[in-house]
Amino acid sequence: MPKTYSEIENWILAEVNPVLSNSVDQTYERLVRIRARMPAIDVPQDLNREEDFSEEAVVRELALYFQGCEQVLDVGCGDGWPLLRLANHLPQVTGIDASTRRIAVATENARRLGLKNVTLKQMSATELAFGDNTFDGVVAVNVVEQTPEPYQVLREIYRVLKPGGRLKIYFEAGNDTEKGTTERVFLTETDISLGYHYVLRHHRPPWERNYLIEFTPTPEMKEEFRRLQELIDRLGPVPAQVPELGLEFLTRNRSGIKGGTWYEIEHFTSETMRDTVEELGFTDVRIVYSAGTLARRFQPQIAGQGLSPVQLQAVCQGLAVVSAEINAPSASGEPVVAVKPERG
Ligand SMILES: C[S@@+](CC[C@H](N)C(=O)[O-])C[C@H]1O[C@@H](n2cnc3c(N)ncnc32)[C@H](O)[C@@H]1O
Repeated sequence: MPKTYSEIENWILAEVNPVLSNSVDQTYERLVRIRARMPAIDVPQDLNREEDFSEEAVVRELALYFQGCEQVLDVGCGDGWPLLRLANHLPQVTGIDASTRRIAVATENARRLGLKNVTLKQMSATELAFGDNTFDGVVAVNVVEQTPEPYQVLREIYRVLKPGGRLKIYFEAGNDTEKGTTERVFLTETDISLGYHYVLRHHRPPWERNYLIEFTPTPEMKEEFRRLQELIDRLGPVPAQVPELGLEFLTRNRSGIKGGTWYEIEHFTSETMRDTVEELGFTDVRIVYSAGTLARRFQPQIAGQGLSPVQLQAVCQGLAVVSAEINAPSASGEPVVAVKPERG
């Protein structure tokens, strides 16, 4: 099926002529942080908050899934999720990420948490610098699809897993009920450029194209970016709803553009991830509910019942136990689990 191009994309292609890049150089090296906050690092955990409650459920589901594993690898750990939370439950964890900046942030986060059983290394998942059969478990959260070669990454994960080793992959689920495309704008800043990021996401089949337009950081451009950020904060990041975020901004500031890059991502669905993992030789491949999904579903009923932190943790633990047993439908966007066969 031919891929659609938006009006803003056509303008960028004609006026900026962006060069091909990847998610690490274009996005993750430029972000100050990946998530709005790191769980249990910035603010104390409050299990009455939906986000904290579902994250606690995910940590417990992973701790349960990797029970008995000596060495677990988090591929594409970003600023330390889920690596640094999992470290409290497992003997030894290793995190890798291709972004130097992300590894620096994760290392600082591990230090702030006082964790001693965490190893962090900068490397690409397409070429893992570990011997064959090294790890008892591998987890990858929203990363395989972010790499330029998802199949090569999955082959590498297979190689470094020991026979009998366990894999759990989460991915950013597309919105299966939505059709067409959605657009989004966000901004970044480095010493040498102001970054205008434009993301076009197609829902069925799920893919997205990302563009970075770099502007020279003159005082006037900084002021333009400050005003643009204010608009995004106030009205949301969607140029279709706020035209000042899109072509209006770009055409007015065309003279300040110093270059641009782009990359494209094919998103997985639970079904395509399951089939791909199976093709690579894994066994016991299943799509399972994440305890995080169940936690989000039940959180409104549970919050406000006056449960103590210990009781709320017990609920998360229960959801982790239950979720591991429930197969999820292939259209759900839920994670995939698999095992490297004993012989293979
Ligand atoms: C969406 S973030 C997820 C980070 C973290 N797992 C989380 O859930 O917060 C994607 C991560 O993949 C990393 N990444 C992208 N391409 C990679 C590659 N080829 N090898 C290793 N990591 C890569 C990025 O640097 C980024 O940290």
